[in-house]
Amino acid sequence: MAADGRQDAPEEPAGGAQAWSGRFSEPVSELVQRYTASVGFDHRLAEYDIEGSLAHARMLHGAGIIDVGDLTAIESGLEQIRGEIRSGRFVWRLELEDVHLNIEKRLTALVGDAGKRLHTARSRNDQVATDVRLYLRASIDRIVGLLHGMQHALVDLAEQHADTAMPGFTHLQVAQPIVLGHHLMAYFEMLKRDVERLADCRKRVNRLPLGAAALAGTSYPIDREAVARQLGFDGVCANSLDAVSDRDFAIEFCAAAALVMTHLSRLSEELILWMNPSFGFIDIADRFCTGSSIMPQKKNPDVPELVRGKTGRVNGHLVALLTLMKAQPLAYNKDNQEDKEPLFDTVETLADTLRVYAAMLRGVRVDAEAMRAAAMRGHATATDLADYLTKKGLPFREAHEAVARAVRFADECGQDLGALALTDLRRFSPLIDDDVYAVLTLEGSVRSRDHIGGTAPAQVRAAVGRAREWLSRP
Ligand code: ARG
Repeated sequence: MAADGRQDAPEEPAGGAQAWSGRFSEPVSELVQRYTASVGFDHRLAEYDIEGSLAHARMLHGAGIIDVGDLTAIESGLEQIRGEIRSGRFVWRLELEDVHLNIEKRLTALVGDAGKRLHTARSRNDQVATDVRLYLRASIDRIVGLLHGMQHALVDLAEQHADTAMPGFTHLQVAQPIVLGHHLMAYFEMLKRDVERLADCRKRVNRLPLGAAALAGTSYPIDREAVARQLGFDGVCANSLDAVSDRDFAIEFCAAAALVMTHLSRLSEELILWMNPSFGFIDIADRFCTGSSIMPQKKNPDVPELVRGKTGRVNGHLVALLTLMKAQPLAYNKDNQEDKEPLFDTVETLADTLRVYAAMLRGVRVDAEAMRAAAMRGHATATDLADYLTKKGLPFREAHEAVARAVRFADECGQDLGALALTDLRRFSPLIDDDVYAVLTLEGSVRSRDHIGGTAPAQVRAAVGRAREWLSRP
């Protein structure tokens, strides 16, 4: 049967090919075999399993536990298996349960007794924990690279639009004018924290479980530090029971991944709104959109919609892993085999999302005029007028009240506050003079928010500069 074969099978004995079958008086049924096997998905760990086995074998030889002949045989056998797996010639067997036993069985077929000695001073429990950590470490490095790619795309677009005025929203209502570059740099900051979170998570991923064996350690004179060094781990897991059983490092990663997706879902929602003709702020290149089979005029922003949707899937994986770990007694339990599919899918979904997103951002066309026109509706500079009056000596609460009345008047005339004539404005405060128009314009308004973190175009350019510096650090 194919490794991931799911067709219904009768509950018949499946034969005793298992590494552990010596203890049993009857073989497991085919149904149980299929239910308990993980090779259909954990074959993805093969490269890391081989890497871990090579390091373990070298340590066994270094510690005088296996001789050089065995080591050489194991090394050449594992190299051959690696070649078979890479070229797709390796035959994965469901009855061999998982990636570890498939590779070990093949090794023994290739090199005989030396292959049987590889598992000395090791258990699948510390082996699988090691494989998952190696896989996750590589995945984190890949994802951080992809996050940087997306950040570059954001920074490039932000720089092009450091002067592009648009309405800033609270409650999705026009609040104050901002520039698009400032808005985009907000997402740069979110992703920067995501990168930092992943880098922090990596520190805890990068510890070696091997040596914990099944749960209690081993009576062989092993050298865990040597294995850790060979595999690029920062150190060893300090407690054998913890090493084989906890998957908190994977949960942490999924939490960080859920936050990345959550950030991207927010930007997605905005891109979708902005592409709606009622906004008309942006257009997304056709290659990222699809049409409708019934409505000929439609151009749908499928990519951001799917990112929004896939956020639910990644959040779900986080909850799955938390629930998997909850109330598990020490030490290893088979429950933990269920860590892999959510973890693999989180990695793949996140990586694909970041790749497509960075490309899509480079295909966004901005309609600066539409953004500007929207900012001119909704009295976006009302706060600026209140600040203007306050600076002329009116207490802020009174200024707020005066401007509120002016806004009502502007609404009655069907005009934006910034378009009212001086004589009209002066009805609400004699402190208003013709210098008021310097703050009532969009440009005057954004330019005045000139401090670190503010929306002034000069500040946005400075933020872009700092971002580029951060991105180019080693
Ligand atoms: N396939 C198992 C997993 O993913 C490997 C460890 C199995 N250990 C055991 N004692 N059955 O967790």
